[in-house]
Amino acid sequence: MGKTNKDKRDLYYRRAKEEGWRARSAYKLLQIDQQFDILSGVTRAVDLCAAPGSWSQVLSSKLNSSTTSSAKIVAVDLQPMTPIEGVTTIQADITHPSTLQQILDCFENELADFVCSDGAPDVTGLHDLDEYVQHQLVWSALQLATCILRPGGTLIAKIFRGKDIDIIYAQFAKFFERVVCAKPRSSRGTSLEAFLVCLNYKPILHWTPKLINNQSTSEFFAGANLMGAATKTATTVGANHEERAIVEFIACGDVNDIDSDASYAIDGDFKRLDPVQKPTAPPYKTALEMKRRGELARR
Ligand SMILES: C[S@@+](CC[C@H](N)C(=O)[O-])C[C@H]1O[C@@H](n2cnc3c(N)ncnc32)[C@H](O)[C@@H]1O
Repeated sequence: MGKTNKDKRDLYYRRAKEEGWRARSAYKLLQIDQQFDILSGVTRAVDLCAAPGSWSQVLSSKLNSSTTSSAKIVAVDLQPMTPIEGVTTIQADITHPSTLQQILDCFENELADFVCSDGAPDVTGLHDLDEYVQHQLVWSALQLATCILRPGGTLIAKIFRGKDIDIIYAQFAKFFERVVCAKPRSSRGTSLEAFLVCLNYKPILHWTPKLINNQSTSEFFAGANLMGAATKTATTVGANHEERAIVEFIACGDVNDIDSDASYAIDGDFKRLDPVQKPTAPPYKTALEMKRRGELARR
């Protein structure tokens, strides 16, 4: 899609540039917050898979307003991030155990009130592999949250509602009093993307989460008895009733706001805007450099 066309077809993309957000994803967090009021009183927040940084921008503007000063916000991504005022950025892999200590160091070993993850892997096109990698990112966000989040804290995690998502619902619901599948209006209706809004973290009794090198996710959660206790908020289904669950589904954002699946006409004095922040390390960077040096062979 050409850039002007994208401006026409995707008003959230255009509005993000007009309002100074680095990505249209900002509206997803804003609409989730509008529905659940999850950011009030937050003083320590972790933004996992944060680049280019629009969620960190939202956190910075909401948590560092004049009324609630001195919030600590840590943003983590594999990609380098251009600095954001009031945010400490860490270039690291959220699936690596060493990332946990880097985050805790920023909080001087205090726990966070809020963790969010908008993680998405580079898509390969191999559906099963893509789904597996996405699930690993969701699990890594939960692993980190169990180590970082204070009791009562909130976790937001991006999911794709594939065929086994009810397993993830059931397992997240063991750690939180309420788990909701939220679909912000700015997330395209045609996409399987949604966000788990996990409220009121309840650490599992007699289990101390500990991240160790080369440990699998199932080894990490072994002591948490994930396949055990039923939950209050999830309705369990199926023969293997302890492993799958249905959670509440809530569409968030004003129904009169922009429809992310619609195309809009652009008025006469339309002027295309540049992105607020160009990607720091896009995958096409090497190809562009090779092209500049005349090293790209024509086929
Ligand atoms: C959809 S983007 C996040 C957008 C961001 N929330 C914003 O508002 O600007 C997904 C990000 O996940 C990051 N990511 C994917 N796998 C990761 C990993 N293992 N560790 C850290 N970041 C990862 C990617 O580098 C990418 O920047």
